[in-house]
Amino acid sequence: MSDKTDNPKRKSSLDLLRPAVRDMPGYTPGEQIADLVKLNTNEGAFGPSPQVMATLAAIGDESLRLYPDPTSAKLRAAAAERFGVAPEQVLAGNGSDDCLTILYRAFLDKGQRVACPWPTYGLYDTLARLQGAELVRSPFHQIGRRYELPADLTKKRAKMIILANPNNPSSTLVPVEEVRKLCDEAARAIVVIDEAYVDFAFGAGIDASLLPYLDQHPNLVVLRTFSKSYSLAGARLGLLFAAAPIVEALMKVKDSYNVNAITQALGVAALEDRAYHEDCVRRTLDQRAHLEGALGALGLSWPEAAANFLLVEIGESAEEVYQTLKQQGLLVRWWRTPELRTKIRISVGKPGDNDRVIAALQKLF
Ligand SMILES: Cc1ncc(COP(=O)(O)O)c(C=O)c1O
Repeated sequence: MSDKTDNPKRKSSLDLLRPAVRDMPGYTPGEQIADLVKLNTNEGAFGPSPQVMATLAAIGDESLRLYPDPTSAKLRAAAAERFGVAPEQVLAGNGSDDCLTILYRAFLDKGQRVACPWPTYGLYDTLARLQGAELVRSPFHQIGRRYELPADLTKKRAKMIILANPNNPSSTLVPVEEVRKLCDEAARAIVVIDEAYVDFAFGAGIDASLLPYLDQHPNLVVLRTFSKSYSLAGARLGLLFAAAPIVEALMKVKDSYNVNAITQALGVAALEDRAYHEDCVRRTLDQRAHLEGALGALGLSWPEAAANFLLVEIGESAEEVYQTLKQQGLLVRWWRTPELRTKIRISVGKPGDNDRVIAALQKLF
């Protein structure tokens, strides 16, 4: 049979795609290879709370037969109580990726701009392309082991500014006062602070969240995820916090049943088990310190880490190191892009897994 794209009928169907979709490369998620030790997508290392697993076991067939609550009301109420905001200031998403998609669809039309410091989470770019919008990248200002906000971030004529804080892939944190200044300076833009990893900064005693300042910055949107510190990446759950009128508008944009019934129940259970969550964060930070001690002894370096991963500077052999680790069953993240090609990102895993990475790197360096 001939190549499918040679078929004239198929060609004309592809011509019907929106040019923005036809021309974009698509987002490349981290590899999901079950048999390898996965230290490449920053999931929580220690698994969900026993309370979450008990809730999962108790899910009844009616929860599956019926549509879920379209507004995730119980979950939003639990989140509101836990984080000290009103339920009307919370929107639940199918992962924080869904919250990001909703924001892009709501705020960005073709040709409009979204700005972010770079390098950061690649999906911010993919979503801009999908809208036919433009992502303006402002390089982070690197000073020693810190990544500072670029001074020109507010001067890009962007409708929306996004900062991952702590940032992925650098694991660095911009202090709250700097982020608040950004919100004030960009008063006419929506400022989205993606706090996917903020619990690991809290665990280290750093008050890193913008959530307590939600009422003071009407242009502020804060995102949280259950994929990292709550170990629920497979369930897909994210939260968006903003002023009530913004949430009300975003509700119009989301899919009707964007968070399934099982995930809504698991989210409530996860929020209730605070002791388990705090313990997971503490154990992750202990393991991060262990990893840092061992990698430091090898003469390796990385920016000051606030999240559950390290962006380790390797040099020209970074791809080779990534491949060598993979051959040994250890999956870390490596990107071919000019700004990241000399580095590998290692997620903090379970103790035995971290020790395997340490032993493998000890042989290499
Ligand atoms: C900064 C950042 N935001 C959002 C996400 C996606 O989170 P979720 O699993 O909630 O969609 C990630 C995942 O790696 C991330 O690094």
